[in-house]
Amino acid sequence: MAESRETLRQLIRRRLGRHPFVVVSNREPYSHEYRNGKVECIRPASGVTVAVDPVMQASRGLWIAHGSGSADQAVTDGGFVSAPPDRPTYRLKRVWLTKKQEEGYYYGFANSALWPLCHVAYRRPVFRDDHWRAYRTVNLLFAEKVAEEVRDQDAFLFIQDYHFALLPRLLRARCPNAIIAHFWHIPWPNPEVFRICPWKQEILDGLLGSDILGFHLRYHCMNFMDTVDRELEARPDREMTAVVYQGHTTKIRAFPISIDFEAISQRAASPEIRKLAQTLARKYRFPEKVILGVGADRLDYTKGIPERLDAIDAFLTRHPAYRDRFVFFQAGVPSRTQVEEYRRLSDEVEQKVAQINWKHGNARWQPLVLVQEHLSLNTLLALYRMARFALVSSLHDGMNLVAKEFVASQVDSNGVLLLSQFTGASRELRDALIINPYSADQVAEKIRQAIEMDPIEVRRRMGRMRRQVREQNVYRWAGSVIKKLSKLA
Ligand code: F6P
Repeated sequence: MAESRETLRQLIRRRLGRHPFVVVSNREPYSHEYRNGKVECIRPASGVTVAVDPVMQASRGLWIAHGSGSADQAVTDGGFVSAPPDRPTYRLKRVWLTKKQEEGYYYGFANSALWPLCHVAYRRPVFRDDHWRAYRTVNLLFAEKVAEEVRDQDAFLFIQDYHFALLPRLLRARCPNAIIAHFWHIPWPNPEVFRICPWKQEILDGLLGSDILGFHLRYHCMNFMDTVDRELEARPDREMTAVVYQGHTTKIRAFPISIDFEAISQRAASPEIRKLAQTLARKYRFPEKVILGVGADRLDYTKGIPERLDAIDAFLTRHPAYRDRFVFFQAGVPSRTQVEEYRRLSDEVEQKVAQINWKHGNARWQPLVLVQEHLSLNTLLALYRMARFALVSSLHDGMNLVAKEFVASQVDSNGVLLLSQFTGASRELRDALIINPYSADQVAEKIRQAIEMDPIEVRRRMGRMRRQVREQNVYRWAGSVIKKLSKLA
């Protein structure tokens, strides 16, 4: 039987009992924004928050995150707000950062140094002293904010991602009875790549303050162990997949993250989504009997969006018979727009879309629709349900939850998933059409294959992937982390 919110709740009650459960992440699960003079609550486009929110709803714990929404301060009471907004089950504590801190810590060290360092997407990391200082300051600030809540309680602390590499060590000193897990949601590169980081030892030292350090893939665990071996006076134990450092043992484990399959699947099957699909088809003027492809990403260079557009260009050039019926809808959520590399990407994507539409389109039909805004989950599900295929072409990706969401949305099993071989998800979803995003011509052929695939084969492949994602859902991911944590209590 697949794990569910209820089985996770029982597990948490059994295993964590009276121990407080605290999650720390940079991105908050819900943010409040001023829009057209009103306050709106939105769910940011983030794999981490999509995965951890259902876990928090089951655990009823405390989530501490950066309050980044324009209206966050206005709706927050004493630093806290209840979440989710429509059915509160847990508390969210918002931490405020100054613009300067956000610039150095988030846009700077986290996203201009660690992000390109850990993703093999051929972007050179930028290492600056002031960014590193801000990163340290913000890690310290979060350590204080967590410690205010936890003190010497026997709490379980679950830290998320590369924004907080130093936090485990800082918390070990402040919360002596806490059990600390850290989950690194992005790839961990091989030691050859990591060694260029000027603060490599500090980062490893920070992470090794955890009791458990999780990655999506065993491959990333091994890269981490190799890096420690190379850079620190520490003892990596390969049999136990653990590191002994300064007398403390950190277990290194792979926990492949996932989604709340049932919730997404049920929502995708609702009449509301069907109706919304019709509205969207009218709004975007999809041709009758459209052959729709969908891509949905943050506008990030690791997602391979220009490469995807090149592949569509190649497809339309090779297969002109599909003109007039084929539409590719690209949802691109603006992301990290203060970083130049991201601004350049946004311009590049816009230009490519314009060029391809000009080259192949005509007065009645344009092959590409680009929407650079935050789309609601309902809108995405409606698009997924209409889609003949989804195209995930990441150049490198820790897991990629869009791929799993697409699978969950396919309640009639009639869509095909094209999935980059460089995503963590491709290790699990073997029935996807696996692509190499670096070859536009190969991807173009896979698009043709997806469109022309026999419907029985489409259903067979999608049916298998659905069973897999239903089974390996986010509750199983959280359950495995919690089982490991509770063994240390
Ligand atoms: O995968 C790493 C991650 O932190 C995920 O939460 C998410 O996919 C993305 O990066 C979110 O980016 P940001 O919080 O910078 O918008």
